Amino acid sequence: MCGIFGYVTNKEENLGPILIEAAKRLTYRGYDSVGAATINGSKIDLRKDVGKVEGVSVKYNFTEMRGSRGITQLRWATFGEPSQINAQPHIDSDGDLVGAHNGNVVNNVELRQQFIAEGMTVRSQNDGETCVHSVERYLNRGYEFIDAIRLAYGDLQGDYAFVIGRVNEDTLYAFKKGSGMVVGIGDGFTCVSSDLPSILPLTRKIVRPQDGEIVTLWSDRVEVRSVKDGKLIDRKAETVTESMDAVQKGGYPHFMLKEIHEQPQVARELLHLLDGSPEVESLVEKMKKARHLYFVACGTSYHAALIGSVYFAQIAGRPAIPVLAPQFIAQYAPAVGYEDVGVFVSQSGETKDVLNALEAAESRGMASYGLANVIGSTLTKATSFCLPLCCGYEISVPATKTFTNQVITFLYLAYRMAGRDPSTGSGRSTRELETIPKLMEATMDAIGSQVEAIAKDINKWNDMYCLGYGATYPIALEGALKLKEITYAHCEGMLSTEFKHGPLSAVSKGYPIVFVAGPNDVPLIISGVNEVKVRGARAIVIAEDDPRLRANADDVIALPKSDANISPLLGVLPLQMLSYHMSVMRGFDPDFPRNLSKTLTVD
Ligand code: M6R
Repeated sequence: MCGIFGYVTNKEENLGPILIEAAKRLTYRGYDSVGAATINGSKIDLRKDVGKVEGVSVKYNFTEMRGSRGITQLRWATFGEPSQINAQPHIDSDGDLVGAHNGNVVNNVELRQQFIAEGMTVRSQNDGETCVHSVERYLNRGYEFIDAIRLAYGDLQGDYAFVIGRVNEDTLYAFKKGSGMVVGIGDGFTCVSSDLPSILPLTRKIVRPQDGEIVTLWSDRVEVRSVKDGKLIDRKAETVTESMDAVQKGGYPHFMLKEIHEQPQVARELLHLLDGSPEVESLVEKMKKARHLYFVACGTSYHAALIGSVYFAQIAGRPAIPVLAPQFIAQYAPAVGYEDVGVFVSQSGETKDVLNALEAAESRGMASYGLANVIGSTLTKATSFCLPLCCGYEISVPATKTFTNQVITFLYLAYRMAGRDPSTGSGRSTRELETIPKLMEATMDAIGSQVEAIAKDINKWNDMYCLGYGATYPIALEGALKLKEITYAHCEGMLSTEFKHGPLSAVSKGYPIVFVAGPNDVPLIISGVNEVKVRGARAIVIAEDDPRLRANADDVIALPKSDANISPLLGVLPLQMLSYHMSVMRGFDPDFPRNLSKTLTVD
């Protein structure tokens, strides 16, 4: 997830050290490239490259950069590979504007084509540059700077925050759509950033602009205007009193809880990105023509691959083979060839087991594509192309938001495989998936205190089961993995129908068994519930509300009504929360469970 920071002061200063420190404070968001620009009278000094803040800032001597306004940006590649030219900030055609953004402009490709046709100099693939040219376009047409920015806002689709400045002026302008952005007011300076932690060491007096507003920053004041009519908005500054640690966690006690709550927003951003991605069509075409289709991954990413294969069969009528990466080497690699397609799924893009499987597949000529969160990681470079998961940095070791975005990507691809897209003019449309973020929010609102109460009740157990069927089977596996990972209890995920083939003998009075039920599987789940209840188990069901379930289970954690394909995805949210509460109640740190590491780069 990229980060931006802009700084305005009233005289020419040595801004380099301020920009370097601000960039360092943004690094927790994750990045692959670093850049800084200062505006000094009629000159823009722009320095940037791929690499870490420490390396790039020393190599290009950021410390000596001077000016009265400065911008720094950390880039997490989405549009365009990590490279010096794609790094931010960017200048306009004749070099008198400089700007940088974070987030994604989903109509980047169309806008770039328009700018080239309009005769502008487009240097990179990056959508940050697109933001700059969007303003340049209206300046070329004779608009005042502020009006050019207002019009650019209307052209830029997606979720992003953007800061821009022009030579021979004394201001920076900033606006946002969907993403976060905070403005700071200090003694003799103002600043703007993607987030609060990068501002707090400078000032605690802040303004929070909303979508549809433009902020003008002078050294001694800021002004907020409406994009719609350009009118001034009376936005009062507030004083932040929380500690830095609390602010970094977004006010949540743990990163895991913060990341669980980020899921609706990252889902929204992902759906926008997929809609605007030319690579989706290309991947869909390759998968349609494949002889065999493999989804290869480990851990949580494997559970996403598993639900992906259920979606592909149920929605697109296309079989896909989900397989754990090391087992792919033993079971399928010897038999694959150039007619086959593999999608390698990994949050980190660095999991050695996945990279080994990729190597085995490529040595047989198999076409390989990726699905990864960390762009610039080995997986993204080693595959023909990689779809980004668009989650930003996931700090907590247990994967949460990256899992749900992996599942949404598979669901989206399954819709496209089925030809259910507006461009085909027939069938259902991927537009239906736009309900997901709101449904996730509704789920989080609904489950809160009930899940915490259940966690308290069952927390004495060190052994339990989590069962599902069809698309909820991978969700049950994922819930069980989360529980094991952060509560250190044993929880087995299993196909609900398999339970009677052995594990039923483990049931004793009060033994907790969680069922995750899809809307079409209620009768089957009821029979499973009764099987365990008559033997004394406590049956907890996660499903859409249904009187038949209420009549049979001990607890029903009710999900909002949704499409039968979306409902399983919602079912993972209570399981994430259940694991989280149980972990905290046991006195563990869910962010950093013992013996585990976020990225497993060993065999
Ligand atoms: O980075 P990856 O998605 O390739 O990682 C795979 C697993 O190590 C990972 O999903 C692990 O299972 C999670 N920590 C579970 O929460």
